[in-house]
Amino acid sequence: MAKDMQTNSLENFWIPFTDNKGFKAKPRLITSAKGNYLTNHHGNSVLDGSSGLFCSPAGHCHPKIIEAVHKAMQNLTYVSAFGTSHPAAFALAQKLSRLLPEPINHVFFVNSGSEAIDTALKTVMAYHSAMGEDRHRYVSRERAYHGVNIGGVGLSGLVNNRKTFQDVMPNIVHMRHTWNPDELMVRGQPELNGIDLANDLQRAVDNYGGTTIAACFVEPVAGSTGSLAPPKGYLERLRQICDENGILLVFDEVITGFGRIGGRFAADVFGVTPDIMTMAKALTNGSIPMGAVAVKDSIYAAITDAAAPGAIEFFHGYTYSGHPAACAAGLASLELYEDEGLFQQAEALSPYFLDAIYSLRDHPKVRDIRGIGLMAGLELRSNGKPGARGSEAQKNLFWNGLHAKFTGDTAILAPMFIAEEKHIDEMVEKLDKTLNALN
Ligand SMILES: Cc1ncc(COP(=O)(O)O)c(C=O)c1O
Repeated sequence: MAKDMQTNSLENFWIPFTDNKGFKAKPRLITSAKGNYLTNHHGNSVLDGSSGLFCSPAGHCHPKIIEAVHKAMQNLTYVSAFGTSHPAAFALAQKLSRLLPEPINHVFFVNSGSEAIDTALKTVMAYHSAMGEDRHRYVSRERAYHGVNIGGVGLSGLVNNRKTFQDVMPNIVHMRHTWNPDELMVRGQPELNGIDLANDLQRAVDNYGGTTIAACFVEPVAGSTGSLAPPKGYLERLRQICDENGILLVFDEVITGFGRIGGRFAADVFGVTPDIMTMAKALTNGSIPMGAVAVKDSIYAAITDAAAPGAIEFFHGYTYSGHPAACAAGLASLELYEDEGLFQQAEALSPYFLDAIYSLRDHPKVRDIRGIGLMAGLELRSNGKPGARGSEAQKNLFWNGLHAKFTGDTAILAPMFIAEEKHIDEMVEKLDKTLNALN
């Protein structure tokens, strides 16, 4: 192990979203990574079956990204993000806006998906305020994950992420989630209930008054809860209700952005354009923390036009918004995706991946599988203690040489776009072996 990787104590670091005591008793450390593989502290290879946390479709430690960040940092390691800027921030915003659906062409940089969500909330507030509207209610959905900041936890619908933290943003109404126990093992978009489920937004309109609702936030494919694609007609109906009532539609594309479910963004795949999009993760191939909020031109114009000439228009931003290292990583990543045709590669690999994952459908430990693009949720049958079997499976998978992200009892597989069929085969073999040995 490299000297700077050695540690005498695991005590001081408080690991996020992790059973700290269990981890420290039997740590799972990654000491290096390359392409599709991680190396653990015993020197063993671990296939990265979730691209980290859906972050790294071009593979770990890509030399072009490392080189771009290194070069950028020899020139600039920090620039004040308020009142000054640097060319790479503009270049990245322009490059990104060319990828985004029209008319979404204005980009605000942040440092994570959670910051993107809270920034989107504040953008919604600033927009309605600029338009002279008095809207203070937000609609989101059960089982949603919108990060961990106070606004995002308010919007989220995962009980464990909420129950300890009750003092979060008020005035949030949750629509029903879209998982239907009568329609299991769906590949792609479910056929049933799309309009009915989307009409939960109409119920909120009928109940509270459409003019009181500021925005509706959805993950177009709910990712962290298990890869739930929207039932047919669902997003279209949400768009229609938003249009009829002046409600802004926000797509949280922190996972779905940058080719994960096919196309560029979920907005393209499903043919529904939101007013605001959030993104992070694959924006820099996971190499440097960065997120973004992209808005329609009309939203940017409304907010900037509402301010007096010379005045700051949006009292919001982070010290590290558009950091030079992150911009360099973002530019290099978007170039890689384009030059190496990685979104097309992901689309081409998707049928093989989905066939392989759905081959586990009759496994006695599997309750449901949902997959779209290069993402699939594989829900294990609970052993009566929610999350216990998932936690055991995740650890055993790691020791069997596969990293998979779990939420509760659901594994969320998301291979790299550079994965080959042999990597998919390896993933499914290791899943099968691990599931066979579960209690
Ligand atoms: C849809 C969605 N939104 C927001 C976030 C929060 O992103 P971060 O962990 O970068 O704050 C995540 C993270 O997984 C996510 O999946």
